[in-house]
Amino acid sequence: MSESNNRIKIAVQKSGRLSDDSFSLLERCGIKIKKSNGRLFCHSQNFPLDVLLVRDDDILSLIQDGICELGIVGTNILREKALQNNSNVVINPIEEVINLNFGFCKLSIAVPDTFSYVNISSLANKRIATTYPNLLKQFLKNNNVDAKVVVLTGAVEIAPRLNIADAICDLVSTGVTLEANGLCEVENILSSQAVLVKSLNMSVEKESIFKLLRCRIESVLQANEAKYIMLHCPKIALDKIVKLLPGAENPTVMNLTGSDVVVAVHAVCKESVFWETLEQLKAAGASAILVLPIEKMMG
Ligand code: PRP
Ligand code: ZN
Repeated sequence: MSESNNRIKIAVQKSGRLSDDSFSLLERCGIKIKKSNGRLFCHSQNFPLDVLLVRDDDILSLIQDGICELGIVGTNILREKALQNNSNVVINPIEEVINLNFGFCKLSIAVPDTFSYVNISSLANKRIATTYPNLLKQFLKNNNVDAKVVVLTGAVEIAPRLNIADAICDLVSTGVTLEANGLCEVENILSSQAVLVKSLNMSVEKESIFKLLRCRIESVLQANEAKYIMLHCPKIALDKIVKLLPGAENPTVMNLTGSDVVVAVHAVCKESVFWETLEQLKAAGASAILVLPIEKMMG
């Protein structure tokens, strides 16, 4: 078996919204990757995975052309690409595997602060600059608005100032870019987050490496939400308190030395534990409540 059959390649964004979280996800999966400045290819020494650092816009093509097998991309790119009339032969169709719970952003239409925007028909006959022409055209069509789509490859936010466009359609994450450019969000086209994608055309060897990786990723995502809760509980309030624990299955109940009326309860809560939950537990009689993060979880 050749060396390349024994390893899989994943394409991740080199720098931008998804980069840090993509790398930290792989790290939390126990995959050690040496990232060195300027290198576009990183080799993991303790897992059969190589990482390609590329522009997020190129990730899907790299998988389709068979250059790598996996990728981490935003829904924004997946949906835009899906609408593209692709006449090229696709070697490897792509499957969306799992939402990764990071890289949240919106694809939105924004107008300069000086634009008197009333509703979507205010965009009629206006020029809208974007790098997402297909999603924008679909949105305008669905809303019966006739506007001109100006396709750019980047720096969309400065188009109104250069008088190339009257409005823009771009990704908004923190909103800092819009604010810095005197733009105001008026319509939301799509909500996006990072997704793990894979080629539907992998060798048996690569599929089995992928299964391992997928299992680790799922464990990390589960552990992200999950918390280990420990508390003291009056025996008479036990039923009520156990019901308040979010997503807990079969909590452990233990006797406390020197008390007949209070027990200790330990539980893994698989859903988010909010301050409100703790307040409700306290009101129901719980005390000495501890909430601990869970690093890894495997069912
Ligand atoms: C997007 C978008 C804005 C920025 C918005 O770029 O084009 O420039 O993010 O983020 P903010 O609301 O937090 O300011 P992206 O990270 O996708 O980089 P790219 O366009 O170079 O791929
Ligand atoms: Zn991009």
